[in-house]
Order: sequence, then structure tokens, then C-alpha cells
Amino acid sequence: MKFRNEDLDKVITQLNIVEVIGEYVDLKKTGSNYKGLCPFHKDTNPSFMVNTSKNIYKCFVCGAGGNVIKFYMEYNKLTYGEAVYELSKKYKLDITPINGNNSENKNKKYYEVLNKALSFFKENIFSNSGREALLYLNKRGMKPDFIKENNLGYALNGWDSLYNYLIKEGYDPLVLSKLGLIKSGDKGYYDTFRDRVIYPIYSPNGNIIAFGGRTMSDRKDLAKYLNSPETPLFHKGWNLYGIKNKGNSIRRKNYALLMEGYMDVLAAHAYGFDVALAPLGTAFSNEQAELLKRYTSNVIIAFDMDNAGRLATEKTSLILKKYGFNIRVLELKNAKDPDEFLKKYGKTEFLKSVKKSKEIFDFLYDFYVKEYDLSNFMAKQNFIGRFKEFFLSVETDLEKSLYLNKLSVSLGMEKEVKILRKILIQNNEGTILVKKIQSPHLKTKILKIDELELETLKLCLKDRKYFKQFKNRTITSPFVQNIFDIINQNGEKNYIQELLRGNFFKLEEEEEEIILNISTELSAKNEEDIINTYIEIYKRWFVKEIDEKMSFFKTNDIKSFLNCKKIYEKIISDIKIDDLEENYKEFISMKI
Ligand code: UTP
Ligand code: MN
Repeated sequence: MKFRNEDLDKVITQLNIVEVIGEYVDLKKTGSNYKGLCPFHKDTNPSFMVNTSKNIYKCFVCGAGGNVIKFYMEYNKLTYGEAVYELSKKYKLDITPINGNNSENKNKKYYEVLNKALSFFKENIFSNSGREALLYLNKRGMKPDFIKENNLGYALNGWDSLYNYLIKEGYDPLVLSKLGLIKSGDKGYYDTFRDRVIYPIYSPNGNIIAFGGRTMSDRKDLAKYLNSPETPLFHKGWNLYGIKNKGNSIRRKNYALLMEGYMDVLAAHAYGFDVALAPLGTAFSNEQAELLKRYTSNVIIAFDMDNAGRLATEKTSLILKKYGFNIRVLELKNAKDPDEFLKKYGKTEFLKSVKKSKEIFDFLYDFYVKEYDLSNFMAKQNFIGRFKEFFLSVETDLEKSLYLNKLSVSLGMEKEVKILRKILIQNNEGTILVKKIQSPHLKTKILKIDELELETLKLCLKDRKYFKQFKNRTITSPFVQNIFDIINQNGEKNYIQELLRGNFFKLEEEEEEIILNISTELSAKNEEDIINTYIEIYKRWFVKEIDEKMSFFKTNDIKSFLNCKKIYEKIISDIKIDDLEENYKEFISMKI
């Protein structure tokens, strides 16, 4: 959904930001501003500020911030367009979206088709032909009421029953195929899901976006589960199965239970654990961590109790740690997965296991320690090295130190904690990793923009003086390069505004969203934030380029190598920006 710029301004200026946010956050007046507990991270001390003169909010701990639209969008998990639309309806602002062949209409059609398909599947399961499916689910502990509540269904055992049904309803085969409901073969179209129990998959907003289908047979030649393919609405790695009522249960209870399978999640929901989720048949991804972070920072991993499950727990925890989650791991005795455990032992025993769940570090320690004989000197060294990746994923220095102390105590190496620190926190050359700036709210994946390039673009859009600093860097993203060319060819302009008006080229929807996000993000930053970002970005480019040159000099020109190394050490120290720029000039002049 798109709106005119004047209308966006209207929303921002006419809405009372305190009133809008006040509905969700308990705000107290302090001076001319308002303060409250930040809804975007686990806040115990009010660190969330609403600034009425600038019309923005900002959290000093987690960094969330922006204008009223951004708040509404983040809090309610909406797209920019949806947030503007809902706000205008809720507060009766007189604005209307720009019509056209926008994708919003197309999506509406898609949702309509998927809902039709779902109602077909739902009818089937309670029909004669669905008897077997109903029995199957009953056998797995799912009673008719639960089946109805969760919209479970059945895909008939024919080749084209769904196809025929939807065509009769007047839908276009191309649309059905785009949504992954049908496939085309030699003899024409046929249904993707045949003779399978159907689980609808919903987006975080509660829109139906895909299906999962389980076979009821034990035949080895059939995939146990079949999921919708990637479609315009469905990207496996970006969604999680089982998000109930827009994530509000997770927000309220402030934790999520992360499980491996559909069945585990459904069983957990049936037993009252409505905070259970699962990735959709793929490994847990960064995007899923970003999604989860909007609801809570606490995750209990409850994967299967086999080695594959433990390995997946390790991998997933490394991703979650990068995003600052507190992680615990559930260990279920005498059951292969949460589904089986719940059915065998019930809710109370499950809760007991939750209480006994291990902190991630203890889990990893116990998991790794089985592989090594710690009385052996070499093995002990390798064992310690095993934690490297974990420490790399931990975000804050404080947390790193706490874990480090714990490890040294467990190993009886309290005296050697400094050495451990060197091995696990500082890397070999004693260099410190430049901290990554995260911008989880930008959908960088769609356009595949390198994160550093995106951060650079932000600065360049903020002010032409930054563009001058970065214009000669090697940019790989066509979108960023395109804008760089435009800034290069034009003079002083408000590029954000001109881009959004489509004055240079017509923005794709995702591109527009990126620019809008940049705009709100920049408006929430003060001059000091910008300068700090500039220094950080400048350093990151520098480190990146110097790394490349050094690996070349290392084998060819030892003098230049050492020279580079000296510069390198300077940049990673607390250097002033002028010196940094000076050093860069010197570095650039070193020819290969
Ligand atoms: P599991 O085999 O553990 O599934 O695979 P489950 O949910 O416990 O199923 P039941 O209890 O045997 O019915 C875990 C997850 O991996 C994905 C699915 O998302 C499944 O829930 N998967 C598994 C597939 O996508 N395809 C498959 O063929 C198998
Ligand atoms: Mn399982």
C-alpha cells in the first residue's frame, strides 16, 4: 500500500505520539518528555523516551526509535503501508492509499485463494473421504474440536480435486500455480498436496501464506512432510510455524519455546503452551531470529532428543546468541520429542522439565565434554577451542566475561583466565573485531544488499559530505550503485524525498520500504549518533580494504606489509576521525 508524501506527513504531524504509544506503554511525564518501559526489549528501568517536540521515541538501551508510524509498525508487526493505513483508520485521518496495480491488490487475491483452499481442506476432513485422516489425527491425540480450532484439514486422494474446485470458483490456474497449490505435468495440472493431512501456515500477522502436509502412511518413498514451495507470500526462512495471535502470547509471557516439528508445536499448543514455535522444515535462520526478537529475548530450545537435535540446538543457539537472546535448553527424559513427552507424561512433568532446563553454556559444556578426554593435554586444548564460535556469537563484553569465568571455573583454570580470554575473546593477532551495526528492521535480504553498503548508503543519503567520503568505494549492490550514480550526477538535494517521489526512477516496493526505513531511522538519530556511525563505517571500509591489501603484501612485499600492519593497528585503536582519514589517504597511495 502506498501513500502520498503529504499524507505521510499528515499522519506524523497530526497524530499525538504520546496518545498513540500511550495505549501500549505506560508513559510518565518527565520534564517536557515522557518515559516508560521499552516494549522492544526486556526493560526493568524505564529507558524508553518519547520526545514530544521532535515527535519521536527512542530507547536508550536497545536502540529502538523513530516516528509514530515506525512505532506502530514495529509494535504491531505491520508493514509500513499497513501501519499508515491502520493508523489513519483508527484515528480517523483523512488519507487514502494511492491506487494502481499495486501488489497489495494482488496479495489480497492470493490470500483469498489460499483461504478458499483452506476451507476446502477443512471440509474434506469431516467428510466421508476424510475419515482416515480424522482417525489418524485422533490417534495422535487431536480431537475434532482441536482440529477445528486450528484449521487442520485434509487434501483428498485424487489428482486434481483442489484444482477443479478452485477453477470452478473462477480462479486462474496461473495464480494457483504461483501459490504452489498445483503443479503442471505432462497431463496438465495436478494438486501439490494429495492424500495428506494439512496444516495451514500463517504469517506473523495471522494471514494464511502456505500449507504443510503430512502423509498418513509409513511408506519410505513418500516424503513425510510436504510444504508449499517459496511463493510471493511464503519464504520459509523468514517465517516461524505456530505464532499465535500476532505474537502477543509470547510477548506477554516473555519467552518462546522453539521446537523442531509441526507436531511438537501443535501438541504444545494443545497442552496450553501457546508460545511454542518451529522453523519450517529448514535450519533456523538469522531472519527467524530477527522475527522472534520482536516478541521476546528469551528462548527455550526444545528440539528432538537425538544427536541431530543436539547439533541443531548448537547451531541455533549460535544464531540466537548473535541477536542477544537468553537461551535455555530443554532436556526431555524418555521421549524422543516434546510431542511424545507431552502425551506420555503430561503438562506438569513438562513444566518441571522447563524449570530444570539448562542455560545454553551448560548445555554446550555437557555436550562437548563427552567428546574429549580432559586428562589429555591436547584434548583439553581442543575442547577449549570448541567454544570459540560461541564466544564470537556473544554480543556484549559483560556476557563474554561472565561465560569466560564460568568456563575457567569448570575447568579448574581460574588462574589461567587471562589466557583463556586471549584464546576465546581476542583473536590470534590481538585484533579486535569491529562491532557490526545491526539493522534488523531493514529487509536487506530481498535486494541482497551488503550490510556495510547499506549503512554507507544511509550516511550518503543523510548528507552529501559523507557521500564525498565514500563515493569511490567498491559497491556491489546495483541498487546502492544506482543511487550513488544519481548523487554523483546531481548537486545538493534532499535525495530521500526525491527518491520517494520517484523523481529519479520508479522504486520497487521493497526499495521504497528501504528508503522509508532509512528516512525514519535517520530522523531518530542526532548529530552525534551520525558522526559515530560515520566513524564506524569509515573504519569498517578501511579494515575491509586493508585486509585485502595485506594478504597480498604478505607474500610479495614484506615492507609494505609491515607498513599496513602499523596502519591497521592505528585504525582499530581509539583514533580520531581526522587521523583516520589521513591514514586512509596514506594507505590508498600504497600501490600494489
Ligand atoms: P520430524 O520428522 O521430527 O517431524 O521433522 P515431526 O513434526 O516430529 O512429525 P511427526 O511427529 O513424525 O508427525 C521435523 C520437521 O522437519 C520438517 C517438518 O517441518 C517437520 O515438522 N520436515 C520433516 C520436512 O519438511 N519434510 C520431511 O520430509 C520431514
Ligand atoms: Mn519430531
